[in-house]
Amino acid sequence: MSAAFRQRELREQFPIVTAHPESAYLDSAATSQKPRAVLEAVQTYLTTSNANAGRGAYPWANRTTELVEGTRDRVKEFLGDPGPDHSTVHFTSGTTEGLRTVARDWLVPYLNDGDEILVPFADHRANLDPWVEAQRLLAARGIRVHLRGLPYQAVSGDYDHRALGDLVGPRTRFVAATHVHHVYGGDMNVHRIRAAVGPDVPICLDAAQSVGHLSVDLADPGLDVDFVVFSGHKAMALPGSGAVWARNARGPALRPAGWQGTPNTVGIVSLRAALDWLDMAGPDRIADWTAGLTTRLTDRLRHLAPYEILGCPTSLAADSVLPATQRRHGIVTFRHQDIPSDDLGFILYSHGLMVRADSLCQAGAGEKDGSVRVSLHVYNTVEEIDRLLTVLASLA
Ligand SMILES: Cc1ncc(COP(=O)(O)O)c(C=O)c1O
Repeated sequence: MSAAFRQRELREQFPIVTAHPESAYLDSAATSQKPRAVLEAVQTYLTTSNANAGRGAYPWANRTTELVEGTRDRVKEFLGDPGPDHSTVHFTSGTTEGLRTVARDWLVPYLNDGDEILVPFADHRANLDPWVEAQRLLAARGIRVHLRGLPYQAVSGDYDHRALGDLVGPRTRFVAATHVHHVYGGDMNVHRIRAAVGPDVPICLDAAQSVGHLSVDLADPGLDVDFVVFSGHKAMALPGSGAVWARNARGPALRPAGWQGTPNTVGIVSLRAALDWLDMAGPDRIADWTAGLTTRLTDRLRHLAPYEILGCPTSLAADSVLPATQRRHGIVTFRHQDIPSDDLGFILYSHGLMVRADSLCQAGAGEKDGSVRVSLHVYNTVEEIDRLLTVLASLA
């Protein structure tokens, strides 16, 4: 009851949500809505100290430089970085650019002929294309690098860590993994990846669907990774914002190549305000709230005959006995046996329900698999889930 009360208070802080009570935004895995604190921080910055960072000898420029540099420290603090003096934060436009930066500017110079890297073949293509591109760049220089697929297990909705252990050898130099799957919502149990690959192999984590949704705490020995890459815009900040955190312990420090140009100061200001807001709301409480809504949705949906929920069937079993890591984190993708996804998306929208229809950017998947994705955040309510279920049941 108190959690529900607190959630209402948090929901009230999203102007777009409260302005459209007839609608339910169920597409937060694509991008999140923005709380008032973020909008106000941006407005305050633009109306009091807008300037370029590091390029002027006047207060607005100095203030902008402080904001940018201070946000690097804020990202480290938000992620619970246990070694902030040795890590780096690099701002990007989002996860896609962040992963590309790690691939191009860190991985390519790091690899040698005959090395192997493990990459996810069934995750978001933003976490596959950069590694393929790195392989291609190296091949053009006569350096052959082998890409191995991180084995994925549909039943558990997680990587197959035993098979992963069998793939690891003396030439394994790098692993790219995902924290929370963008189609199935499963937690990919990073500690088991570390256990499988051993203590020396750098791991790069695509945290696009975890930062802002659940606690991502680098002080936790279970999250022993070397890069955390995320999109600010999926975590309450403005579009065009994101960051790469790099531990700089296994291998060289991350040094993005080339002239970086003017940073996205407004995006960075919004990211700082977003991280403050998320800490105030509490990532664990957000995760609990969306987990509760997810269970409510899947518990009903799995009994509606024409629907098939995609991925990790074990997460649909008796929820009370499931460890938190096997629950879906606010993402449920499903299809109707007769209604194509575009039509289903359109029908749902005619009831004010905004979902993602098809084209989920999954590596290896066709453009159209008939699926619809519902993805939740802290502003979503039990009533919205029930409205969705009522419409879905009427189509059964
Ligand atoms: C798991 C995952 N990785 C990467 C991305 C790409 O993020 P962006 O479009 O912000 O670069 C997404 C976006 O949906 C995602 O879900």
